[in-house]
This record gives sequence, C-alpha cells and structure tokens, in this order.
Amino acid sequence: MKAGEPSPSLRVGVLISGRGSNLRAIDQAIGSGQLPASLEIVVSNRAEAPGFAWARQAGLRTSLLTRDDLPRRAQRQEAMRRVLEAAEVELVVLAGFDEVLVDEFVSAFQGRIINIHPSLLPAFAGTMKAVEEAYNHGVKVSGCTVHFVTGQLDGGPIIVQRAVDVREVDTAATLAERILAEEHVALPEAIRLFAAGRLRIEAQRVRIV
Ligand code: GRF
Repeated sequence: MKAGEPSPSLRVGVLISGRGSNLRAIDQAIGSGQLPASLEIVVSNRAEAPGFAWARQAGLRTSLLTRDDLPRRAQRQEAMRRVLEAAEVELVVLAGFDEVLVDEFVSAFQGRIINIHPSLLPAFAGTMKAVEEAYNHGVKVSGCTVHFVTGQLDGGPIIVQRAVDVREVDTAATLAERILAEEHVALPEAIRLFAAGRLRIEAQRVRIV
C-alpha cells in the first residue's frame, strides 16, 4: 500500500518480469477509484525489468528475487511465496511474469492466482510469442485472456476475455499494441470481479455471479 492511501479491500501482490504496463494499469485503476484494492507488493525476477524500476519509483513495496540470487526455480518461488504471505496478499496477479509456477506455489495460493495472456485461450497457449504466432497463423480475431492459474500452463478457468479484430493493415506489432490496450482493461476488470467476490469456479468454467 502507498503511504497516505486509505486501506482498500483486496490486498494484491503482482509478479512481473518486464515492462510492467499491466502493473501500471492496475495501479491506475486503483488510483482512479475504479478498483477497490491495494498493491501490497511487486515481485520481480529480473533486476532490469522496467516495471520493477517503475514500482520502486512509485513508492510501492518491492522484492527482487532473481535467478542469480536463487538459481533453483522451486527455491526462488518459495522465497516469493514467503514474501507474498508476509505482505498478506489475498490475490496474486501474474502480469508478464515469465516463469512457470511450481506446484507448491500454485497450491499455496489455490484459486487466488490469476494470469494475463495475449491470446484468446485456449488458442496459442504455452508460448511467450502468442501474438506473433496468432498473426502468422492468419487468425482474423485474437485478443487477451485473464484466467485462474492451475498446474496446467495457460489452461486454468477463464475469467475475462476481450477480442481484437485483426485488420488487413496490421503487422504483428500493431496487433500487439491493440491487444495490450485491451489487456489494460481486462486485468483490472478481472481483479474487480475477484474483489467483489463474484467469481465461482465450477470445474473448468468460471461463473460470474
Ligand atoms: C503481456 O502481453 C501479457 O499478456 C503477457 O506478458 C505481457 C506483459 O506486458 N503475459 P507488461 O509487462 O504488463 O507490459
């Protein structure tokens, strides 16, 4: 939580590895009063992540746990779990986090981890180049998905999807830009639904009540 802010309801921890534009979108949604949550901690696994520098500058609580510090993924993610638990987060948001989570981490926050992926899942799951692959495949519609994280990579129950038409003039880069803009709407929306207690996981389906 930033100093001086009222204590909102949902305590959120965000994991990042890069740019951090989705992190900023969450922060903006909170700041503008559209999202009743607080950013309790930002964890990065990369020292050079621009999103990490931004978080520090913004005065957010941060934690850096890199491969250099802790080479074993399980060990590193255990440290991340401790940091998130110490911050008493209620929801863990993967916002451009480039590690596959180990089972222990997923179990520790069962039903309380969400991820954003730049495709309409289950299409183009399990790749870091989803937009490029969708574009090269020639899809006419793509988009983004926010889903719960389970042991199956990019396969957990879907919370929010937003579609983006592929235009004739598009390149993979221009398509990526428009998908990213939709991500910045979808992720705060999914967190808002979670915060409001409106999500019910029924097998593979998320019901919004
Ligand atoms: C986004 O495209 C997200 O869907 C994917 O990684 C990217 C992160 O972007 N998982 P940013 O760091 O939030 O700008």
